[in-house]
Amino acid sequence: MEQEVGGPRIAALDAAARTASAYLASLAGRPVGARATLAELRAALGGPLPAQGAHPETVVTDLARCADGGLVASAGPRYFGFVIGGSLPAALGADWLTSAWDQNAGIYATSPAAAVVEEVTAHWLLSLLGLPPSASVGFVTGGQMANTTCLGAARHAVLRRAGWDVEQRGLYGAPEIEVLIGAEAHVTVLASLRMLGLGAGRVRIVPTDGQGRMRPEAAAKELARGSSPMIICTQAGNVNTGSFDPFDRIVPLARARGAWLHVDGAFGLWAAASPAYRRLVSGVALADSWATDGHKWLNVPYDSGFAIVADAAVHRAAFSADAAYLEKTSGEERDPEDWTPEFSRRARGFPVYAALKSLGREGVSALVDRCCAHARAIADRLGRSPGVEVLNDVVLNQVLVRFTPPSGGDADEFTREVVQRVQRDGTCWLSGTTWQGRAAMRISISGWSTTSDDVARSADAILSAAVGSATR
Ligand SMILES: Cc1ncc(COP(=O)(O)O)c(C=O)c1O
Repeated sequence: MEQEVGGPRIAALDAAARTASAYLASLAGRPVGARATLAELRAALGGPLPAQGAHPETVVTDLARCADGGLVASAGPRYFGFVIGGSLPAALGADWLTSAWDQNAGIYATSPAAAVVEEVTAHWLLSLLGLPPSASVGFVTGGQMANTTCLGAARHAVLRRAGWDVEQRGLYGAPEIEVLIGAEAHVTVLASLRMLGLGAGRVRIVPTDGQGRMRPEAAAKELARGSSPMIICTQAGNVNTGSFDPFDRIVPLARARGAWLHVDGAFGLWAAASPAYRRLVSGVALADSWATDGHKWLNVPYDSGFAIVADAAVHRAAFSADAAYLEKTSGEERDPEDWTPEFSRRARGFPVYAALKSLGREGVSALVDRCCAHARAIADRLGRSPGVEVLNDVVLNQVLVRFTPPSGGDADEFTREVVQRVQRDGTCWLSGTTWQGRAAMRISISGWSTTSDDVARSADAILSAAVGSATR
């Protein structure tokens, strides 16, 4: 320990703490988008690898200085792009510890603390999200890998029921699996299907309504067809509108058909943590698997996602790996790799544990409520302004807005131009999308630190970009 006083590790950590503190202090005031160009960033960060190494403290300070112009203030209060949360103070602190501890969260033997923290955190998550306490949880990198893990468990289960061992025999000669997805499924669900050999192009698409929700009558029709193994992928929280598939209607149909029902709830599943919004996910607890994120609405630093499976035995059978040298437990201890496609990995349970402990049950619920109230407020404010149309029912934290040019012209083009102007202005940052054939501005409010004042300032900036004046 004495050796460490003034040692290179401490110097590097001190430099990181100093520069990170300065960065965090600048977050509320700096332009939200990146300022540096690609050429500037390459010039600042690039060049040949030096022959000689540098002192760790210098490396850290130089990195912070050179990267600064290319950083996006997504951890700040006025970042409304994609679906990106900030990092809660306790989660950030625990994430630093995770690096300092450098635990391999593969098996219990490589880090009993990481394994137990995941076990405890898994129980907290299930209880917050209203899911069965016996479900299993894999701590993965995000929604993409959560979907892949859950669908890997689904593939195992539906084929096993058909008498096929996919882990041993692969998909060669296997019974065909019918996969149903909503027309508005997130692209990562398709990527998961690709990775699992189920094919993104051979899914059956269930039509959706004007908000992006699966039409239950259409789902019923598709679910009634045939008797082959079937997986249906539903959604809690459409990435554009925030809408929810009607689980109450679809889950019983899937059960009756013997289909595996998966829920992509990357951010929307968190509605279950709030008494005010829980009704949106009514019926969801009876699904077979759920994918959700920590790095979106829970405001855990990247990367953090959860693959949750109702039947823990199925989950483990699809992912557990064994080898003679692995000192895996045969008792009650948790070997984290049983629940994820990864083997060695970061102990990403620590920051999730810290986030949940710092918020408590009420804090998580208040975070969801606050973001939804901000979304409603910005939608109301923008929607009252001439030439601005809110395209979606604002049921959660997502808002879609479209702008009509004041002196006539193409609204698609103008809406894209307003998005660009807002990005250049730097007060807030948001991105564009196309919703059911029409260009729209997408506003997603997922950060813990956003205040009503941030929402008002951002609305002013958006209206200035659209009409050249900020009329309240
Ligand atoms: C509904 C939905 N599913 C999946 C994902 C992918 O999550 P991740 O970016 O964490 O991989 C997203 C991301 O926005 C999403 O909104």
